[in-house]
Amino acid sequence: MTKSATTQGAGLRDVVAAPSSICFIDGEKGILVYGGYNIHELAENSTFEEVVYLLWNGRLPNKVELEALNQELVSHRGIPAAVIGLIKAFPKDAVPMDALRTAVSALSFYDPDHGDNSPEACRRKAIRLTAQVATIVAAIDRVRNGKEPLDPKPGLSHAANFLYMLNGRDPLDVETRAFDIALILHADHEFNASTFAARVTAGTLADLYAAITSAIGALSGPLHGGANEQVMRMLLEIGSMENVDGFVRKKLDAGQKIMGIGHAVYKTEDPRATYLRSMSEAIGKRQGDTKWFDISHRIEEIVVGEMTQKDKPIRANVDFYSASTYYMLGIPVDLYTPIFAVSRISGWTAHVLEQYANNKLIRPRSEYLGEMNLKYVPIDQR
Ligand code: COA
Repeated sequence: MTKSATTQGAGLRDVVAAPSSICFIDGEKGILVYGGYNIHELAENSTFEEVVYLLWNGRLPNKVELEALNQELVSHRGIPAAVIGLIKAFPKDAVPMDALRTAVSALSFYDPDHGDNSPEACRRKAIRLTAQVATIVAAIDRVRNGKEPLDPKPGLSHAANFLYMLNGRDPLDVETRAFDIALILHADHEFNASTFAARVTAGTLADLYAAITSAIGALSGPLHGGANEQVMRMLLEIGSMENVDGFVRKKLDAGQKIMGIGHAVYKTEDPRATYLRSMSEAIGKRQGDTKWFDISHRIEEIVVGEMTQKDKPIRANVDFYSASTYYMLGIPVDLYTPIFAVSRISGWTAHVLEQYANNKLIRPRSEYLGEMNLKYVPIDQR
């Protein structure tokens, strides 16, 4: 290693890898900002489509611009018949994130701008991908359940259309709004693992589909997007309030992590969790059963209490209360991570466009810990 190279801490914590104007996080204060707007402003007032525009353009759209984006997204919701055929050929028990990764990769063959990496073509691909990831996720679920994928409904918003394509019925307004807020909250998160994976791939000037396929792979892991599914599996395993304390105690005593708690950047409450906590409680109350919220809340109380005593400031993250929220919206557990992608595709594409606009190959160094100057020993003498 050259003398000028320095070793960073494990996992590149707190390393600023590149400038970006898309998203800001203050991990100490629990602040999340997209393009200048606090996440609470956006969750309370905007729609997912407006946020997509904001992430791609650095400002909120006016009415005409928003309508134009809506129309473009709607017109690109359909996916090629060949990709539906491919989804039908997947094993029925394929993990939906694996199916999504493969289907998105295959989409590139059919993109009319395939092979064109100009800014205009990349923007068109970003629109198609943002529209089509939702269609693919719904199609994967329907096909594995022996149903035909539904054609998108042009009159519905992105959130409502996704729920329609998944469940085969128009969602209630409250369901649409809850899902739309979940999409807004998950849309971007600075240089998280999947976004960074997308930027690393884009940095080689590989195309947008290659970058997004990398991102989906990174999102699937249980330490990243996969955590929301693990949270729900844990809640189902616990099953009722009287089992919570014993379950959590056993896990913590065994030195195991409780999924959905802790964050690499936030040292205080993840502001997205604040929102999802109230959504989970509100949906439970409306449905007349707050069991999943109550169990989640008790787990949080125990873990946060114990960790605070040990001076480890960990709190619930975005995945903790999204699990019970999605469950109460009737979404199958193994679709939680694909649904994360339905939203995060907007942030991934924004970051890839930003990376292309000011590209520098991302190529860090390693700290070599191996041996040096060994002499080759013929194989029969080793
Ligand atoms: N449950 C119990 N203890 C936890 C914990 C959890 N979910 N998350 C962190 N800790 C503890 C660790 O064991 C560690 O203790 P130690 O210092 O005694 O080893 C300490 O808190 C710091 O955790 P660490 O894993 O080193 O922090 P990190 O910044 O590297 O990790 C995560 C961040 C997200 C990987 C980690 O909190 C985690 O694995 N959480 C569960 C998975 C999850 O929800 N991921 C989604 C993130 S949005």
